[in-house]
Amino acid sequence: MWTERNLFLNGPFTPWRQEGYAPDLEIDGELPKDLSGALYRASVSPLYKPLDPDRHHWFDGDGMVHEIKFENGRAHYRNRYVETAALKLERQAGHALYGPLANGGVPADEAIRAGVFFKNPANTSTAVLAGKVLMFAELDVPHALNLDTLDTEGMFDFHGDVSGPVTAHFKIEPDTGDFIFFGAQGRAIKYFHGDAGGRILKRFEFDMGVSSFIHDFLITPNWAIFCINPTILNLEGVKQGQPWMVWDVKVGNNLALLNRVSGDVEILPLEGAPFAPTHWLNAYEEGGNLIIDGNVTKQMGIPLDGVDEEWDSREWMAPSRPRRWVIALAGKSIEITAPFGLNCDFPRINERYTGKKHRHGYYAGSLTPKWHDTVAFECLYKHDFETGKTETAVIEGLTAPSEPVFAPRPNSVDEDDGWIMSYWWNPQRDVSEMVVHDARRFTAAPIARVKLNNRVPLGFHASWTPAS
Ligand SMILES: [Fe+2]
Repeated sequence: MWTERNLFLNGPFTPWRQEGYAPDLEIDGELPKDLSGALYRASVSPLYKPLDPDRHHWFDGDGMVHEIKFENGRAHYRNRYVETAALKLERQAGHALYGPLANGGVPADEAIRAGVFFKNPANTSTAVLAGKVLMFAELDVPHALNLDTLDTEGMFDFHGDVSGPVTAHFKIEPDTGDFIFFGAQGRAIKYFHGDAGGRILKRFEFDMGVSSFIHDFLITPNWAIFCINPTILNLEGVKQGQPWMVWDVKVGNNLALLNRVSGDVEILPLEGAPFAPTHWLNAYEEGGNLIIDGNVTKQMGIPLDGVDEEWDSREWMAPSRPRRWVIALAGKSIEITAPFGLNCDFPRINERYTGKKHRHGYYAGSLTPKWHDTVAFECLYKHDFETGKTETAVIEGLTAPSEPVFAPRPNSVDEDDGWIMSYWWNPQRDVSEMVVHDARRFTAAPIARVKLNNRVPLGFHASWTPAS
């Protein structure tokens, strides 16, 4: 769409520029009656042809929320754009005012005159909190959408207590429902512990020493864990049209361990080749050790000495693979292993195990190391960290699955007793399906395929809100 040269505007990424409501979607198979609640997915769908479509990046597109409500085996769908300040300006103009931020670019004069230099696309992740659907990106606090209509109502500032950038990767403590998150502002990490309604109970702040890009973090009962890494926010250059994310290997990798009780911070250097964490799976404490699972890539960002050159996104962001760190907290020795050697990302667990020992991880994956050709995924993986076994879910005729979200079966006891939900793309019909797998029978045919009338452009993260 708009250019054939950019993968991020074609195939499963192609924008879907309509909003609407579709009750009682057609379903192949059967939705379990006890799968009751709502799946909210943040996707990326530029409303207007970007200023420089060949250099547009996935990270830059307008955020759209897709809701599917499940009740009594039925599924109802609604989608809406997030009406951000930048999108409102573009709607007034009737065309794009913004170009790429990730690959470098400046907005149209009209946007600069209006005082909105950066587009906050509200496109990264979503949660239901304090009676609102929140849409997160990392340039500000989240946007708040009406729970019934998905109308954008404004910004959610955590009851007046938070301002500025907030991570898209909040964590919810399983035993308390508390909402744990952070904001990275230059060299500063601001850590927030909110209650289940988003009221701030505790906050800490520390200096990373460098303006590293911290996208995701981990929590255990005692620790909040951040990985300082060579992806650096180019805070000055971005205003001159340089890319906002650069790669500076001199920075190396360090883990910052924030004590969630005292606020004390320990910095732990990590040896070996430089890497950027893409997403974390989970962390837990066991027998004096801190065990961390996540995905890492060997490069994320345009090299520092090449910021004025033209770059293809596929050249500066390599595929990611799982890695495990076992840290002996007493002696600070670190053992690093690769749980499995397949390209994948968007790791998720049964979130009742956040900060606790997990056995299973679910990922969107590539069957072959072809990420640089296709960008999109082709399958889902389930990895068993106890047996070391990895299972693969593929569906004939469907591809490009989105991040797998785990919904636990009500009153379940086993970690993997629940359902995996992911949007897949049908390239022949150019529409999407919301596919439900039984997590325990991962390689079997899906138990339900919910047929949408539209495409859900490939985006980033989603969340499950069980019916109360
Ligand atoms: Fe993310």
